Amino acid sequence: MRTQVGIVGAGPAGLMLSHLLHLSGIESVVIESRTRESIEATIRAGVLEQSTVDLMTETGVGDRLRREGFVHHGIAIRFSGRSHRIDFQALTGGRAITVYAQHEVIKDLIRARLGAGATILFGARATGVDDVQSARPKVHFIRNGRDEDLSCDFVVGADGSYGVCRAGIPESAHQDYARIYPLGWFGILAKAPPSSNELIYNSHERGFVLVSTRSPQVQRMYFQCDPSESVESWSQDRIWAELQTRIAGGGFRLKEGEIFQKDIIPMRSFVCEPMQYGRLFLAGDAAHIVPPTGAKGLNLSIADIHVLARAISAYYASKATDLLDAYSTTALRRVWRAQHFSYWMTSMLHRFPDANAFDRKRQLAELELLISSRSAQTLLAQNYVGLPLG
Ligand code: PHB
Repeated sequence: MRTQVGIVGAGPAGLMLSHLLHLSGIESVVIESRTRESIEATIRAGVLEQSTVDLMTETGVGDRLRREGFVHHGIAIRFSGRSHRIDFQALTGGRAITVYAQHEVIKDLIRARLGAGATILFGARATGVDDVQSARPKVHFIRNGRDEDLSCDFVVGADGSYGVCRAGIPESAHQDYARIYPLGWFGILAKAPPSSNELIYNSHERGFVLVSTRSPQVQRMYFQCDPSESVESWSQDRIWAELQTRIAGGGFRLKEGEIFQKDIIPMRSFVCEPMQYGRLFLAGDAAHIVPPTGAKGLNLSIADIHVLARAISAYYASKATDLLDAYSTTALRRVWRAQHFSYWMTSMLHRFPDANAFDRKRQLAELELLISSRSAQTLLAQNYVGLPLG
């Protein structure tokens, strides 16, 4: 099998790249190990930056997002039992975020790609990449029990943190930067009305809580837990009691309901530098991971793709390689900005197991500074709604 751009992974990055390349008249094949049903049903992130929304809208895949997504003009930072609003609208000149689940983005992109006649090979497991230093790199994959090859001009590894593509860069040609946090997020979906019309980032002595939403009927919430904990040890009653304890203050209570999904998310920061080797380009989680506290993961993947699609399009238009050569450097600037922001939000809001009373007081001083300083709030707001794609 042969194509122009071989894309490994049908997550937001891989699908968006295939979509943008198609709009530039460039052919791609997407290789995805899982089934369409399974990726369309996997619960992941839920916050889209303004520029992610704009890119989807401008490229014709934003209709349902516009109809069904929830535009939020601020968030609440809550501690010591009180909420403080960060007003994105006022602090960023009218920018906002949209709450729209990642698997809904995936559904929209798959529908658009298949509608345009694209080849997405579901249930095809990539096993490795080859000849990436040549003009004819290859992806090896297994489909229906048979070994096959995809030969292309470029390979894009958008196959997530545990994908095979990153290993296509020899050990000596990249450096990894990582931090593993001694924290996990226990995520739930509950059939309940919203408890708040904006997201609440809540810092408490017992640990962080995030109150998010999916729809007027379904709420998404997270509470900080030990990453080695098991979901079974948390009954519905125990979860609600813990959430209510951490969020209490000023008479505020979360609206409870049946919890129908539970998961535990580990927290880590990771960057692979550079994000390119020969004709192999990494994008999204294959190259970098952020802890979920700043809601940057999905948006960062889309930002990578914005840069990469432009570079690949320029190559096919004029054989110019300058944008391709600059891809890693360009993408990494935004990646490190997001790394710092996610680390900042994580450290400001969570209880670290080794923290003592001094650390908590220092954390509270930082939160007080945030809510009393317009410049600190502007910094948070600008990073949260996301910098322009450029
Ligand atoms: C979510 O709704 O899943 C969500 C929202 C904000 C975050 C992380 C996750 O920072």
